[in-house]
Amino acid sequence: MIVAIDGSAASGKGTLAKRLATHLGLSHLDTGALYRAVGLQLLKAGQDSKNINENQCVKSCVELDIALTTSPLIRSEKVAEMASIVAAMPAVRAALLDLQRQFAATPPDPKGAILDGRDIGTVVLPHADFKFFIDANICTRAERRTKELLQAGQSVMFRDVLTDMQERDSRDRFRSVAPLRPADDAISIDTSSMDADDVLALALSYITP
Ligand code: DC
Repeated sequence: MIVAIDGSAASGKGTLAKRLATHLGLSHLDTGALYRAVGLQLLKAGQDSKNINENQCVKSCVELDIALTTSPLIRSEKVAEMASIVAAMPAVRAALLDLQRQFAATPPDPKGAILDGRDIGTVVLPHADFKFFIDANICTRAERRTKELLQAGQSVMFRDVLTDMQERDSRDRFRSVAPLRPADDAISIDTSSMDADDVLALALSYITP
């Protein structure tokens, strides 16, 4: 079984993906972590988000240290900004495509895979068995992200998180390649007034064995 989950930042798509994977015994790939790892690798190499060279970004994808996808450092706002900039580059998206498709084709768990991101149902896995599109209003999402960052020990203010999120949202939704949008056959869930249990139960109600 292949499940594609797309959605906006802090919409709850990652939480849903993890919980569905546990519930259904599927392998999970957080594709945002790939873009974040590329962003972190570039920052470590001294690159500046205001003046970034596409060839260097592609090189960073090809030489990606996959261990960075599990580093807590990828969760900073600075890395999120870099990830959002590199994710808008067609050559970067192309360089990360095979890795994502390979994971879905041969997941560590033979029962199947769940991938979450922005273009899984539209570009990466258009033939997924189930597709979900997760969203919530921006204030709710910025509140959730502020709480997460504070809990992780980062000093952030709601207003700044909201402004950064608006900027990244518009970059994700309006970029020319693989913009964030629901696939025609995706099930849309608005999590603004739902908790993680409600979202899991609703998603499971659509999944038939
Ligand atoms: O979901 P996230 O915040 O960890 O994603 C980080 C960035 O990567 C975000 O700006 C969107 C981008 N991304 C993407 O363009 N395509 C994906 N499949 C996953 C993430």
